Amino acid sequence: MELIKVEHLTKRFGDLVAVDDISFSIRKGEIFGFLGPNGAGKTTTLSILSTLLSPTEGSATVNGYDVLSQKADVRRSIGVVFQDPTLDEELTAWENMDIHRRLYGMKKSREKIDELLTLVELDNRKKQLVKNFSGGMKRRLEIARGLLHEPSILFLDEPTLGLDPQTRNHLWDYIRNMNREKQVTIILTTHYMDEAEKLSDRVAIIDRGRIIALDTPSALKERVGKSVIRIESSETERVKDKLARVDWLNNLSSHNGFVDVTLQNAEKRIVEVIKILNEVPIESVSLQVPTLEDVFLNYTGRTIREQEASVKDRMRQHRKVSR
Ligand SMILES: Nc1ncnc2c1ncn2[C@@H]1O[C@H](COP(=O)(O)OP(=O)(O)O)[C@@H](O)[C@H]1O
Ligand SMILES: [Mg+2]
Repeated sequence: MELIKVEHLTKRFGDLVAVDDISFSIRKGEIFGFLGPNGAGKTTTLSILSTLLSPTEGSATVNGYDVLSQKADVRRSIGVVFQDPTLDEELTAWENMDIHRRLYGMKKSREKIDELLTLVELDNRKKQLVKNFSGGMKRRLEIARGLLHEPSILFLDEPTLGLDPQTRNHLWDYIRNMNREKQVTIILTTHYMDEAEKLSDRVAIIDRGRIIALDTPSALKERVGKSVIRIESSETERVKDKLARVDWLNNLSSHNGFVDVTLQNAEKRIVEVIKILNEVPIESVSLQVPTLEDVFLNYTGRTIREQEASVKDRMRQHRKVSR
């Protein structure tokens, strides 16, 4: 079932096209990632889907409701965690949840607050002031709050921005848990390759307002190239002879003491390959797998970082022009 359907959506700010004719749909239960550099149009897209901005052209439905004509229904269907924190630092974690509960007019939800705080492992901190929380704790609290009115969809805008690697890893676990245990469909934006790859069932790569590729992370990577097992050996001819006898190892090449074996899902074949080589001397074995960065590079001709630099340039020029 399609929970979100977007058709030919465009958003212009003056003559700047922030979102440029995008179409996609999101299925119930998915974790759907928007991956793209700063300025690509991710936040603008989420803002339209959460009814905070109106589209210039095109249409979108969320949970079956139109984002322009059925705003209240859309809002009831979604929980939103935006980039900038909106917690009240002078209140406790529990009080922050409680304010949200009152805003949504939910009466019997005290147990619900405790349940969600437990889910993000903040139940033992609920009486502490938010100003004493770490960045990761605040983000967890915001996610819990976003789920308080039991939305079927949760929007997370750059959920791990500015967090250290360990905290990011933890947060990924919480996000997966939410998706599984609460059956919440999750749409997240990120400019971190690894985050998009590890969390998302499907990824839309967005650049300059356009979706340039949309698929599962593994399908996206397979499109740009297969993975390679590289074997270093003093006897590359023997290595090649041995491997050439195996029918699924038909793509071999060698150079300067290395044999490259190109194949799909190389990471799952690496042990088999080593076993086949048996008594042939090997110095090292390494694995090269394409990343989503390679996918981005393949479609745009630039890395995400380079693209961010050029977007900043465009923004500076834009500012000069509009002065
Ligand atoms: N309210 C606004 N007014 C003018 N330009 C905007 C506004 N919001 C976003 N933009 C511009 O639209 C483009 C996309 O921005 P945004 O959606 O925030 O990108 P992302 O979230 O992918 O970093 C950027 O060039 C940004 O400067
Ligand atoms: Mg953004």
